[in-house]
Amino acid sequence: MTLVLGIESSCDETAVALVTADGRVLAERIASQEAEHRPFGGVVPELAARAHAERVGPMVEAVLADAGVALADVDAVAATAGPGLVGGVMVGLVTGKALAFAAGKPLWGVNHLEGHALSPRLVAPELQFPYLLLLVSGGHCQLIAVEGVGAYRRLATTIDDAAGEAFDKVAKMLGLGFPGGPAVENAARQGDPKSVPLPRPLVGSGEPHFSFAGLKTAVLRAVESGRHAVPDIAASFQAAVTDCLSDRTARAVRAMPEATALVVAGGGGADGAGRAALEAVASAHGLPFIAPPLKLCTDNAAMIAWAAQERIAAGFAPEADPQARPRWPLDPAAEPVRGAGVKA
Ligand code: KG4
Ligand code: ZN
Repeated sequence: MTLVLGIESSCDETAVALVTADGRVLAERIASQEAEHRPFGGVVPELAARAHAERVGPMVEAVLADAGVALADVDAVAATAGPGLVGGVMVGLVTGKALAFAAGKPLWGVNHLEGHALSPRLVAPELQFPYLLLLVSGGHCQLIAVEGVGAYRRLATTIDDAAGEAFDKVAKMLGLGFPGGPAVENAARQGDPKSVPLPRPLVGSGEPHFSFAGLKTAVLRAVESGRHAVPDIAASFQAAVTDCLSDRTARAVRAMPEATALVVAGGGGADGAGRAALEAVASAHGLPFIAPPLKLCTDNAAMIAWAAQERIAAGFAPEADPQARPRWPLDPAAEPVRGAGVKA
């Protein structure tokens, strides 16, 4: 059975995993860099790259030891080749190349977004193409028709900030620290989601896209007004994001009648309120709802190894000598949208 060693290093998680062709994660390790970045309130690319470089080698050894597998038993090595912070991507990718070279095995340069996009199939083997994917990561907020391995059609994207980015910035405004998503979600538990009136940008709009910049500015005003408690702002913000995600996703469901399921992936998919609302959207349209467990939503290496397994099973050949890419859209043919800048 084909065994793939996966490496992820595109942001602030160093991760290594061993995954079989039938989706068993034989061993995995994830080291977050929260302590390194917390004093700066966000990810510092240079520190991230250095921390990846210190950790990835010992983590590969530990994962192989945990699984009782020798490097020679691995059939292929997969490493994230982008998109992400390029210094960190280079650390993981060069490590993957060295291991593959040493073992005489192929190296797959994996698109991190493809890792997120296919991750639901690792836990739900019954999930068939085509499915509708809401991808909510730190840098992306997109609705994608996943038509097959390597076949992605972007239906919508954000015209400004990503939802995860908005969570991180709002956490900073509220003094909730880093990392922002879970901190806002925690604070929101004690708050009233109806207490602070906030806009729902593009909800009900005829165009398919997302927008979160106006919401973020409205949160800043609410903070500056001094009239609201932090948990109330957090809960109201979370409710506004949830409404935006649900409305835009419902629109995409209607635009993709061939979808077999609604799927959410990426770190923003870890938010409990968002997951519940999306489940309701799916059931209102008679679709199964699939959300990977939280640790497979946030960055991890199992999804990177799995994406390579999917490509191997689909008969693709690995790209020769892949290079680290700061940007790498899943659907390169998608039209740029107004205001989207580099994130589309
Ligand atoms: O996919 P991911 O782990 O990394 C990227 O590829 O970007 O996504 C990270 C994003 C961050 O913006 C973080 O704030 C958000 O996911 N996030 C959350 C939660 N956990 C992580 N957002 C809301 N609620 C959460 N529980
Ligand atoms: Zn990610």
